[in-house]
Amino acid sequence: MKIAVVGTGYVGLVTGTCLSETGNEVTCVDINKQKVQMMREGHLPIYEPGLESLFHRNIAEERLLFTTELAEAIEDAELIFLALPTPMGDDGSADLSYILSASADIAKLIKGYKVIITKSTVPVGTADKVTAIIKANTDVEFDVVSNPEFLREGVAVEDFMKPERIVVGTKSDRARALLTQLYSPYVRQGNPIIFMDERSSELTKYAANSFLATKISFMNEIANLCEKLGADVDMVRMGIGSDSRIGKRFLFPGIGYGGSCFPKDVSALAKSADESYYDFKILNAVMEVNKLQKVAFLEKVKDYFNYDFDGKKIAVWGLAFKPETDDIREAPAIYILKELLEYGATVAAYDPEAINNFDNYTNLKISYGDDSYEVLKDADALLILTEWAVFRNPEFSKMKDLMKQHVIFDGRNLFDIDTMLNQGFTYNSIGRTT
Ligand code: UGA
Repeated sequence: MKIAVVGTGYVGLVTGTCLSETGNEVTCVDINKQKVQMMREGHLPIYEPGLESLFHRNIAEERLLFTTELAEAIEDAELIFLALPTPMGDDGSADLSYILSASADIAKLIKGYKVIITKSTVPVGTADKVTAIIKANTDVEFDVVSNPEFLREGVAVEDFMKPERIVVGTKSDRARALLTQLYSPYVRQGNPIIFMDERSSELTKYAANSFLATKISFMNEIANLCEKLGADVDMVRMGIGSDSRIGKRFLFPGIGYGGSCFPKDVSALAKSADESYYDFKILNAVMEVNKLQKVAFLEKVKDYFNYDFDGKKIAVWGLAFKPETDDIREAPAIYILKELLEYGATVAAYDPEAINNFDNYTNLKISYGDDSYEVLKDADALLILTEWAVFRNPEFSKMKDLMKQHVIFDGRNLFDIDTMLNQGFTYNSIGRTT
């Protein structure tokens, strides 16, 4: 099939590349000329495991093309995916201006039947708005479909190629048949394509992310309570997670969820509930708990140093909002490091992938190391903020030789408490009492 993908951000690029992998001819369009040129030359602008080989193969096969011209991208395409940003506006709602202006531009260019598919996470009612804008600008036949994306950064290729489910919101039989054809190679393990109306599909995406965020905030509160009651959250997590109704996944406490999706989507759903005069109490609590979780973590560090960081060096492992990504959007590290600097600490950080992004985006006056150990030299404490695999099995004796004080604040519960105590560390983690 011939496909256009509008927007080559994270979702657009993964979608375009993975759709070309099954033989479709995909043209990705972006207004950023430099980025398009870079991709044409075979450079992938994001870090995502497994994406690069697919990207190169399909460019070489001439099935994956890049352009800055919308008209060129959509001319022969039957399916047009909108993968444009929907940033959080000042009031917490999702800003639809990119989606709506692209829809108007598309309407002015199309000459025959097209299916316009919203892949971005968009508030309920967006398909109706897109439909109205296109209708106002063309007489050509078209369908607007909601097809939210559920992929996770770090495992995006696997999630796209072998999805647990695909959700498609459309009332059109013609669009439904085309999407069934498109996605059939991806659901060969028997996983379903779930068809529904557009509004339910749009809400499904928000409900999924908000439910997962709720699980995390719930576990963060259980962890906080464990600290008060002298219980161990890892035991509680295993104890409840083995009930299949609860499930083992997304029960890991930490320093709060981050990334480009959960914070934005939970807030947008709360906002849209507000606008419908519905008081979604749980969601408001989920956001509040998430905000407080990183504050509470930092409070432990401040307490330890009696709020005096004069002459103190803090080493940091992990800047990305989660492992296997260079993405630092809404990463707890941003807040934590800013605060440490404000309190006068010297900070040295290491992350396997996210240093460039962190440095460019935050401009914080910290130093960066080339590996985990370099940042530990003369450190008064180590803060672990992202659970990269490379941090899980360090040489403790080497760490102790380098550090001035053998103190660790582990925001991701990487280590066994007894091991750390035997190694002679002062070890603080989440929801576990030492
Ligand atoms: C999330 C969803 O998991 C995807 O299904 C969805 O498609 C995506 O958002 C999106 O809307 O585009 P992602 O943001 O890549 O994916 O990251 P997750 O792996 O879900 O992690 C989100 C945050 O939750 C991270 O900060 C992570 O550290 C935190 N987390 C996750 C926990 O604190 N505890 C857990 O048990 C799991």
